[in-house]
Amino acid sequence: MLKFDLNGRPVDVDVPDDMPLLWVLRDVLNLTGTKFGCGMALCGACTVHLDGAAIRACQTPLSAVRGKRVVTIEAVGETAIGRRVQKAWLDEAVVQCGYCQSGQIMSACALLAQTPAPNDAEIDDAMSGNICRCGTYSRIRIAIHRAAESGGQS
Ligand code: FES
Ligand code: FES
Repeated sequence: MLKFDLNGRPVDVDVPDDMPLLWVLRDVLNLTGTKFGCGMALCGACTVHLDGAAIRACQTPLSAVRGKRVVTIEAVGETAIGRRVQKAWLDEAVVQCGYCQSGQIMSACALLAQTPAPNDAEIDDAMSGNICRCGTYSRIRIAIHRAAESGGQS
């Protein structure tokens, strides 16, 4: 059994240690908000937080999260930053097809936790690993500025 904290609750899973976290989340724990895109850490669709940092769940073996805190899109709205980002996404109508957006939001929240008022270059750098086939990048950048400007602490 491998234990970790998932969205604020302790979980035990009985699967091989090398199983990618993405499949543990989706297939074992039924949290399907985190998406599969490339499986090679190239697209960002599977982004979750590990101890507050944005990571790619498709290339993270379960063993890497033992005893640590994992947060997924299902719970990111429980933080002040997550709520601000979600509101900004809605206010700016960021989403097109939506497939990449849970990963985009997780990366944006991790950025704002580290850098509360990022400039365009910092946004582009932090978000560069999150690919959007619909080309929502300019709205994502505006929404991150909007979330930053709405202030507050996490
Ligand atoms: S599915 Fe993980 S980065 Fe693409
Ligand atoms: S909104 Fe469609 S891939 Fe990003």
